[in-house]
Amino acid sequence: MILRAGGVGHYAVQMAKATGAYVIALKSAANAGWVTNLGADEIIDYNTFDFNEASSLQLNLVLDAGGRYPASLYEKHFAPGAALFYLPHQLPGEKMQYYKSKGFDVRFTGVFTEERAIDDIATLLKEGKVKSYIDKTFAFTDMKAAFEEMKKGTTRGKIVVRMDI
Ligand SMILES: NC(=O)c1ccc[n+]([C@@H]2O[C@H](COP(=O)([O-])OP(=O)(O)OC[C@H]3O[C@@H](n4cnc5c(N)ncnc54)[C@H](OP(=O)(O)O)[C@@H]3O)[C@@H](O)[C@H]2O)c1
Repeated sequence: MILRAGGVGHYAVQMAKATGAYVIALKSAANAGWVTNLGADEIIDYNTFDFNEASSLQLNLVLDAGGRYPASLYEKHFAPGAALFYLPHQLPGEKMQYYKSKGFDVRFTGVFTEERAIDDIATLLKEGKVKSYIDKTFAFTDMKAAFEEMKKGTTRGKIVVRMDI
C-alpha cells in the first residue's frame, strides 16, 4: 500500500507494480484515475476510508510518504512479517522496538545513494516500467512560486525548477 502517491509515491506505485506486487494506493477519488494509470490495482479514497473501522487489509508492505496518520493505525492491517517504510520522520525508538517485538520490519527511510539501486532504477526507466510525471515546471527565478505550489500538497508527480545556465 502506498500512502500519498505524489512526488515520491508515484515512483513507489510504479516500482511496486514492476515487482509484480498487488498495489493499493490511498488517494482522493478525484485523482484515482491518474494513479490507476500508473499501475495501482486498487484505490482507497482517504476522504472516506477509516483505518480503525475497516477490517484488516493484510498488507505486506506500507510506504507512508505522508505521515498524516500515526504508524500504530496500520498495525491491524499488517499481514504477518509486514514492513512499514516511514518517510516523513524517524519514529521514536520504543515504537521501533515494539514493532520489532511483534515481528514487523518498520523503518524510517531517507534519501541515500546506492549504486545497485540506481542501476535497478535506470533499468526500470529504460524499460519504460517507471516514468517521471512532471506536474508543473517553474523558472529558477520563480522558486518561491514552486515552493508555494509544492506546499499545496496536491501535486500529480513532480514539480520541476529549471536551472537554465
Ligand atoms: N525521507 C526522505 O528522504 C524524503 C524524501 C522526499 C520526501 N520526503 C517526505 O515525503 C513526504 C511526501 O513528499 P512528496 O513530495 O512525495 O509529497 P507531494 O508530492 O506533495 O504529495 C502530494 C500528494 O499527496 C496526496 N495526499 C494529500 N493528502 C493526502 C492524504 N491525507 N492521504 C493520502 N494522500 C494524500 C495528494 O493526493 P490527492 O491528489 O489524491 O489528494 C497528492 O498527490 C513529505 O512528508 C516529504 O517531506 C522524505
